[in-house]
Amino acid sequence: MMFPDYRPRRLRRNEAMRSLIRETSISAANLIYPLFVMPGKNVREEVPSMPGVFRMSVDKLAAEARECLDLGVNHVILFGLPEKKDPVGSGAHAKDGIIQRAIKEIKNKVPEMMVTTDVCLCEYTDHGHCGVIIEGMVDNDATLEVLAATALSHARAGADMVAPSDMMDGRVAEIRAALDENNFVNVPIMSYAVKYASSFYGPFRDAAECAPQEGDRRGYQMDPANSREAMREATLDVEEGADILMVKPAVAYLDIISRLRDEFDLPIAAYHVSGEYAMIKAAAEKGWIDGERVMAETLLSIRRAGADIILTYFAKDMARLLG
Ligand code: PBG
Repeated sequence: MMFPDYRPRRLRRNEAMRSLIRETSISAANLIYPLFVMPGKNVREEVPSMPGVFRMSVDKLAAEARECLDLGVNHVILFGLPEKKDPVGSGAHAKDGIIQRAIKEIKNKVPEMMVTTDVCLCEYTDHGHCGVIIEGMVDNDATLEVLAATALSHARAGADMVAPSDMMDGRVAEIRAALDENNFVNVPIMSYAVKYASSFYGPFRDAAECAPQEGDRRGYQMDPANSREAMREATLDVEEGADILMVKPAVAYLDIISRLRDEFDLPIAAYHVSGEYAMIKAAAEKGWIDGERVMAETLLSIRRAGADIILTYFAKDMARLLG
């Protein structure tokens, strides 16, 4: 059927008609809000390159979690800045480490809040790489043990889900085994299955103080040029027991989200990362774009590409907009 018989504009006449045929929706239930936890007491400081995002001490977390819940955001992911860093990232799996304390604080005071933890070593190593360095290289297999210990310590502290973001080969299997052996069979793994070596992580590295001291992450994170390789990464993680597959960043990789959606039947998550957030905030502050509408359109595009779940610093703003 062609014009003049078929006129697509008929179904765009008013909002009631448009909403009747709307293909994609977004709700606060789809969103995960990242939180940065830092040492000290009574600290709540804004991240300079991420306006509206705050790093806070453990004692401030319950109030933050409560605010999220009141807005309908019932899921957070935690990132920690430890008191001390060392070459092997011991702080990541310390029993009284910053994240372990943060999990307990939230689960004790706001038990309805779902808590996922980021499992990685870069915030805990003094060199800032995501694994243990042996002979100048991030050593894959030596790192696996530390990652498994970290995930297990998070589960012991009460985490509802763990999310490995290090990009070591075989970490999902190693973490699954450690969790299962210790009776945490019901703790899911949301794998950062397809994580690119991206320049969009800049503001996060300021916030989490985890930029590598030397070199970059291209030896373990994916080459932005690759799409077929993303399918191999995701396939491996499915075989190793991942429950949710994540793509990161989001907007520059919508094609990857869409491909994963078509080829896998696991839930798909996408991380709208710090640089993506900062760009919208900065342009909006200058008055060059309508920040709220660009936010909503951006998050919608990630859902349209096929993501079930979006990790985003806009979670609270979006929930507020949804009302
Ligand atoms: C690693 C990790 C990073 C992000 C999430 N987990 C940083 C990196 O890989 O360098 C980035 C998130 C963002 O930019 O918002 N622990």
